[in-house]
Amino acid sequence: MRTQVGIIGAGPAGLLLSHLLHLRGISSVVLEKRSRDYVERRVRAGVLEQGTVDTLVEAGVGERMRREGLPHHGIELRYGGAGHRIPFEKLVPGRSITVYGQQEVVKDLIAARLAAGGDVRFEVEDVAVHSLESQPYVTFGGERLDCDVIAGCDGFHGVSRPAVPEGVLTVFEREYPFAWLGILARVKPSSEELIYARTDRGFALHSMRSPTVSRFYLQVPADTRVEEWPDERIWAELRARLESVPGFTLATGEIIEKGVTPMRSFVVEPMQYGRLYLAGDAAHIVPPTGAKGLNLAVADVRVLTEALAAFFEHGSTELLDGYSDACLKRVWRAQHFSWWMTTLLHTFEDDDPYGRRLQLSYLDYVTSSEAAATTLAENYVGLPYGS
Ligand code: PHB
Repeated sequence: MRTQVGIIGAGPAGLLLSHLLHLRGISSVVLEKRSRDYVERRVRAGVLEQGTVDTLVEAGVGERMRREGLPHHGIELRYGGAGHRIPFEKLVPGRSITVYGQQEVVKDLIAARLAAGGDVRFEVEDVAVHSLESQPYVTFGGERLDCDVIAGCDGFHGVSRPAVPEGVLTVFEREYPFAWLGILARVKPSSEELIYARTDRGFALHSMRSPTVSRFYLQVPADTRVEEWPDERIWAELRARLESVPGFTLATGEIIEKGVTPMRSFVVEPMQYGRLYLAGDAAHIVPPTGAKGLNLAVADVRVLTEALAAFFEHGSTELLDGYSDACLKRVWRAQHFSWWMTTLLHTFEDDDPYGRRLQLSYLDYVTSSEAAATTLAENYVGLPYGS
């Protein structure tokens, strides 16, 4: 079997790449080890930057997102007994975010690929990539897929990155001493906008998915198991961290999903080796506080699509050779922003009283200085592509 681009992984990166390549007349096969049901149900982040929304709309896969997605024009930072709004409409006019679950994006992309006759294979076993320097191929379930190029879109734990010979990639990483416990609940959101709450008990986030489904996160110790958090404990802790301003009451409901997300910052350089190109979480991870993970994957895939189009249309390798450099500037900006949001809002065990005062002072600055608030807002809604 032969294709132009062998794509490992049917998450947002792999599926969007396959779709964008199809629009350019370039063939691909997507190989995914999980089932379709699993990837469509996997609850992940839900904040789409302006550029991500524009990309999906331009690619013809934004119809349901436009209908069901929730546009947001600000977020609230809550700390010290008060809420402080960061107004996007004033600080970054014309730019906003849309709340729409990652798994909804995945569903829309799978539907589009299948409707166009795309080759997306689920539950494939023993995927491995070979001969990355030239004439690469992928093996899976006893079959062989020859390709011109392989795109590693298989996430942090995938097979693509570890296939690069030792010593080629430089790893940059930082682990955080906490995780996020995330839940989905059948309850109307208690606030119209996202609330990022810093408390002495730890961080909490109030988000949402629809007018009837809310999404919440709690900062918890890194080794937390979900079994330690029965529903009543979760609601009590969310109340303790979010009901910190006068007049705010948290509506509660049935919890329909629970999970623990580790917090990590991670980058490999370069994001390519031979004919293998890494995109999304396979190449970089950010802690979720800045809501950047999915958006970075989309940005990578846009760059890779242009580079592959130049390669297949004109035989030019210039853009492919520059793929990693073209992506890493944005990747590192998002790394800094995500690390910064994380340190601004979480409690750290080794924090001394001095450290806590510094954190509160910085929060006061961000919420009172227009320049500082603009820095947060323009990073949160996403910097324009190519900047
Ligand atoms: C989410 O809704 O899942 C979400 C929102 C904001 C974040 C992270 C996750 O920073």
